Amino acid sequence: MESHSSAVILFTFVVYLVSCSPPCLVSATSPPCHFPAIFNFGDSNSDTGGLSAVFGQAGPPHGESYFHHPAGRYCDGRLIIDFMAKGLGLPYLSAYLDSLGSNFSHGANFATAGSTIRPQNTTLRQSGFSPISLDVQWNEFYAFHQRSQTIRKQGGVYKRLLPKAEDFGRALYTFDIGQNDLTAAYFLNMTTAEVRANVPDVITQFKNVVSNIYGQGGRYFWIHNTGPFGCLPYVLDRIPLSPHEMDRAGCGIPFNEVAKYYNRELKNAVVELRKKLPLAAITYVDIYSLKYRLISQARKHGFKESLRACCGHGGKYNYNKNIGCGGKITVHGKEILVGRACKDPSKWINWDGVHYTQAANKWIFEQIVGGSFSDPPVPLKMACHKHPTHH
Ligand SMILES: *[C@@H]1O[C@H](CO)[C@@H](O)[C@H](O)[C@H]1NC(C)=O
Ligand SMILES: *[C@@H]1O[C@H](CO)[C@@H](O)[C@H](O)[C@H]1NC(C)=O
Ligand SMILES: *[C@@H]1O[C@H](CO)[C@@H](O)[C@H](O)[C@H]1NC(C)=O
Repeated sequence: MESHSSAVILFTFVVYLVSCSPPCLVSATSPPCHFPAIFNFGDSNSDTGGLSAVFGQAGPPHGESYFHHPAGRYCDGRLIIDFMAKGLGLPYLSAYLDSLGSNFSHGANFATAGSTIRPQNTTLRQSGFSPISLDVQWNEFYAFHQRSQTIRKQGGVYKRLLPKAEDFGRALYTFDIGQNDLTAAYFLNMTTAEVRANVPDVITQFKNVVSNIYGQGGRYFWIHNTGPFGCLPYVLDRIPLSPHEMDRAGCGIPFNEVAKYYNRELKNAVVELRKKLPLAAITYVDIYSLKYRLISQARKHGFKESLRACCGHGGKYNYNKNIGCGGKITVHGKEILVGRACKDPSKWINWDGVHYTQAANKWIFEQIVGGSFSDPPVPLKMACHKHPTHH
């Protein structure tokens, strides 16, 4: 194995010297990357309309701060993936499952709200988790890769709706998924030890999908780790902890410890993938630290409220799992919409008890775009270059 891998390294090094074909080693003089497309895989943190297209629209007031109408996102406005697309000069991603008005010329979004990495053994109706797990998203991508090229050959409008064949090798493949594997296990009443015991299998299935995409020619990967879900109302409300299990920020310690464990394993997986996929440039982004920093130091970063949901109904966190944001409740025989309770969502971090506000997403994007929360620490625009320390 030793001699084989050094042969691979020598070979790839020669390739850099000769042509700087993907991936080039990053240096101060490296040119910015030109990603012609983004292919995204994930859950509600990056769903731009997948679940809405199939299982019913996320209704008002979702979307109100930016789109001024529901836009398939569980947010008052844009998500981190929207800011990333914009930052790379690309249009917002169409959801692969959305057959109306979609334009995939610069990528496709396979994420759906409630998606897990591992397929669940419960239906959406039973558990609230999406059947579009990462293995299904991979199947969709594979079909898209093959069929888009057959269809594009027909010319005309198809040429302006689908990516070029060569764009798949130059695209950025982005991932934000895993949180629901952990919360789904908790919601099945598993203990923290049982939730942890699932993590290796979850990570294995994640690695398989990244390797599969590499096998299809994908080279540039941008992987978000999972956030501190122990700071989110939908978890805190559903699984109450004793006071000594809560930290000073008001977050559940055992939940966040599991998230951190998952992230350590994810980071190890990235190190393994870099060895296994020699032509890949893989960026690991520490979203956890940023979200935790934002929640624990909300005021310092210009936010007023850190834990409570802006849009929701009742309880300690303005959150009720049976009466969610955009849902309807009957009060004294009158139907009323569960709407925005906070005056100014731009000062709140949590939107609906599960998801972050546009203002929080924008803040997070601004921290990650320069690369200081990434491993290797390369800016988004440099994510096609392989970092020397990983060579
Ligand atoms: C679903 O059930 C199968 C068969 O028992 C098991 O192998 C798998 O790990 C289960 N998946 C989850 C997410 O629990
Ligand atoms: C799809 O979007 C691209 C980029 O914005 C644009 O150039 C193209 O014309 C659009 N396709 C159609 C059919 O409108
Ligand atoms: C988990 O436990 C609660 C409380 O005992 C119970 O109401 C619920 O049905 C259980 N959920 C599952 C999926 O077993």
